[in-house]
Amino acid sequence: MKIAVVGTGYVGLVTGTCFAETGNIVHCVDVDEKKIALLKKGKSPIYEPGLEVLLHRNLREKRIVFTTDLKLAVDKSDIIFLALPTPPGEDGSADLKYILEVAQKLATIITKYKIIVNKSTVPVGTADKVTAILAEKLPRELFDVVSNPEFLREGIAVDDFLKPDRVVIGTTSERAKTIMHELYQPFVRQGNPIYFMDERSAEMTKYVANSYLAMRISFMNEVANLCERTGANVDLVRIGIGSDSRIGKRFLFPGIGYGGSCFPKDVKALHYTAKANKYNFKLLDTVMQVNAQQKKILFQKIKKYYKNDLKGKQFAIWGLSFKPETDDIREAPSLELIQDLLDAEAKVSVYDPVAMGNVKKVFGSKVKYQKNQYEGLKNADALVIVTEWSEFRNPDYERMVKYLKSKVIFDGRNVYSLEKMEELGFYYNSIGRRTIHGKQ
Ligand code: UDX
Repeated sequence: MKIAVVGTGYVGLVTGTCFAETGNIVHCVDVDEKKIALLKKGKSPIYEPGLEVLLHRNLREKRIVFTTDLKLAVDKSDIIFLALPTPPGEDGSADLKYILEVAQKLATIITKYKIIVNKSTVPVGTADKVTAILAEKLPRELFDVVSNPEFLREGIAVDDFLKPDRVVIGTTSERAKTIMHELYQPFVRQGNPIYFMDERSAEMTKYVANSYLAMRISFMNEVANLCERTGANVDLVRIGIGSDSRIGKRFLFPGIGYGGSCFPKDVKALHYTAKANKYNFKLLDTVMQVNAQQKKILFQKIKKYYKNDLKGKQFAIWGLSFKPETDDIREAPSLELIQDLLDAEAKVSVYDPVAMGNVKKVFGSKVKYQKNQYEGLKNADALVIVTEWSEFRNPDYERMVKYLKSKVIFDGRNVYSLEKMEELGFYYNSIGRRTIHGKQ
């Protein structure tokens, strides 16, 4: 099939590349000339495991083309995916300007039947808005607008795209339904479903999925805080509840709050949609409040330990991205923690396998960037674990003990077992578990 993907951000690039991988001819369009030049050379502007391999292969086979020419891409395609940003406005509403602008342009370009697919996360009613814009200039039989939300997790996006748990397609047009079914068939050969529904339900599904997952995380973060106060261990409680098939094992990990480009934005946007429809969605308010509070939890633990005196104390931070396997630092808890430590006049050194470049753009020379995870421990008062990268899971403990000024760890992701920390004599403060006081 012939496909255009407008927008080569994280979603657009993964979408375009994975469609090319199943044999389609894909034209990816972006207004950013530098990015297009980079992509033409097979270089991905984002760190996403597995993506560049597919990019190279499909460039070589000429199944994927990168261009800044929207008209060319549209002329050569039957299905046009819109993967454009929908940044949150001041009030939490999703800003649709990029999508609506492209819709205006499409209305002047389209000359034969095309399917326009909203891949971006867009509020309920956006498919109708795009339809209205196109219908001003085009006869109705020349286009259908479909809502097809993505459920890609950063770091595993290629796999999520190629083997989705489900595909959601919002359209009431039989013609579009048949074509979209054919397009997605190769991705659901393991038997996972393609759900067809109306456009508004598909748009809502995306926000509800992300908000529900965010709610689970906030719920578990509160459970963790309660576990700490009652002497229970949240890891055991998590396992205890997760084996109930009504609950399920995944997304029950407490931590230092959810971040990233989706959860914070989508919870806010759904809350806004509720408000705009005169409905007070009380749970979502609490989900956001709990998350804001949880992002401060490590700093509070640190402050308490040092009796509010952090001046001149040296902290080594492991992990900066909002989660492992990505260089994305949007809404990352690390940013808030670093700022709080700096405000308290502490010294901060950081290490992350891939996100240091992005953090440098925020903090410049205010923090030290280490070439490996151990360097920053030299003479540090404490290690603070913020992101659970695999390489932190089984470190060289001897080196850690040798380098650290005091054997103190604050762990926002429960990376180590309490038994191990006890054995090594660390002071170890994690999330939702008893504190190990250690031997200094
Ligand atoms: C999410 C959704 O999972 C995906 O379907 C959607 O399309 C985009 O948003 P992503 O933001 O890439 O994906 O990351 P995800 O793995 O979902 O994690 C989001 C945040 O929740 C991270 O900050 C992570 O640390 C946190 N999290 C996740 C927890 O705190 N506990 C968990 O158990 C799971």
